[in-house]
Amino acid sequence: MKQRILFVCLGNICRSPAAEGIMRRLVADAGLEGVIEVDSAGTYGGHAGELPDARMRRAAVKRGYDLRHRSRRIAEEDFAAFDCIVAMDDTNYEALCRMAPSREAIGKVCRMAEFFGPAYADRTYVPDPYYEGHEGFERVLDMLQEGCANLLAEVRSRIRS
Ligand code: 4NP
Repeated sequence: MKQRILFVCLGNICRSPAAEGIMRRLVADAGLEGVIEVDSAGTYGGHAGELPDARMRRAAVKRGYDLRHRSRRIAEEDFAAFDCIVAMDDTNYEALCRMAPSREAIGKVCRMAEFFGPAYADRTYVPDPYYEGHEGFERVLDMLQEGCANLLAEVRSRIRS
């Protein structure tokens, strides 16, 4: 069974397109491109059509991730099109739960922090790096690399069952 994952943050120019790029690479490395689809969106549409923030693209490309996503606002159809909708923080999580058109749709929404391992056991969200310096972007990429690897393991187990 095909699995579709949607990463969601506020502007869809920093955290969620980075998560999308990281997960795309993990999926390709695992040879699962035809089985797992990945996309990202924002709860705020003010950056629609833009490439990811230049600071995030610079930090990501150094790790081998070429981020080419164009920002878009989440739409109601996404709740039907995706199996797993991953919010970067509590504000996004709550916005997604409010937007979800059904109880089944709410059941698809989860938090990225649920997939953090022991290194980030005290973290409940992926911090917004938009108003931060360079280290903020590096920290977000570290967290997303760990979270995406654990999320992929979970999604792979769903495919098998
Ligand atoms: P993101 O970061 O939600 O990780 O894409 C932000 C991008 C833009 C804004 C806030 C956060 N903004 O206020 O425009």
